[in-house]
Amino acid sequence: MITGREFTFTPQDFERIRTMIYDRAGISLNFSKQEMVYSRLAKRLRANNLAAFSEYIALLDRGNTQEWEAFINALTTNLTYFFREAHHFALLAEHVKSAKHPVLLWCAASSTGEEAYSMAMTMAELYGSMNPPVRIIASDVDTTVLEKARAGVYNLSQIERLPHEKFRKYFTEAPGNQVRICTEIKNMITFTKINLLDERWPVKGPFDAIFCRNVMIYFDKKTQARILEKFAPLLRQDGLLFAGHSESFHHVANLFRLRGKTVYELASHG
Ligand SMILES: C[S@@+](CC[C@H](N)C(=O)[O-])C[C@H]1O[C@@H](n2cnc3c(N)ncnc32)[C@H](O)[C@@H]1O
Repeated sequence: MITGREFTFTPQDFERIRTMIYDRAGISLNFSKQEMVYSRLAKRLRANNLAAFSEYIALLDRGNTQEWEAFINALTTNLTYFFREAHHFALLAEHVKSAKHPVLLWCAASSTGEEAYSMAMTMAELYGSMNPPVRIIASDVDTTVLEKARAGVYNLSQIERLPHEKFRKYFTEAPGNQVRICTEIKNMITFTKINLLDERWPVKGPFDAIFCRNVMIYFDKKTQARILEKFAPLLRQDGLLFAGHSESFHHVANLFRLRGKTVYELASHG
């Protein structure tokens, strides 16, 4: 037990929380994450006026839907930024450039929106239009980050590494050293809550590309395989799956083949 703390937190509590977040969101927390769990959930205990993690677990056990949402939101890691792993966006443009159909993209762990907006800006540049024939579904399990994504308001410091040209074209200034994504770029995207662990996803392909970056690292191989099996039939035959820089899907070689730079294509693609 960790003592001298604001809240009582036993190894058994950690074990229960580990199981609960794994079952609900697929997130695998190893034992080194005890401190992280304590600090991220402490605010939930405070908000609920509780003194011990066991009381918090009991609250979740009673099926409090709102608290379950807050619990998941607290335990997700949401780091993201505009044009993260920039070579992927160049590849995306190259891939859809000769498409003869309206393009459909899925950003499957969008966090606060920077990735989906980077995809949308890439498409606007490719088509030379603020209204290209492109739809982007952007989803996340965390409802707090989705709210931020929908708002599309960021600190100026978050875009200071973008070329000035992009700033001028796609953002407007907002009060308090903030910037706002322009309406046309926003209109290309539908933000919605999707838990990748759910049996059914409210999406219909076929997608030209799925971005599922820097989220699979939180899942074990079994969970990854389950999700990848569901991605495969949603992709066009020549569709691409973009993974994060430290993610690899060689354990599902029957479904996906590495095309290079953490980009995968269907193994069945000729
Ligand atoms: C580290 S961020 C990555 C954001 C973005 N894809 C990127 O690469 O910059 C991981 C995101 O995955 C989301 N996530 C975690 N578990 C999830 C699940 N079961 N279903 C959907 N999204 C999930 C988190 O809420 C978080 O916003």
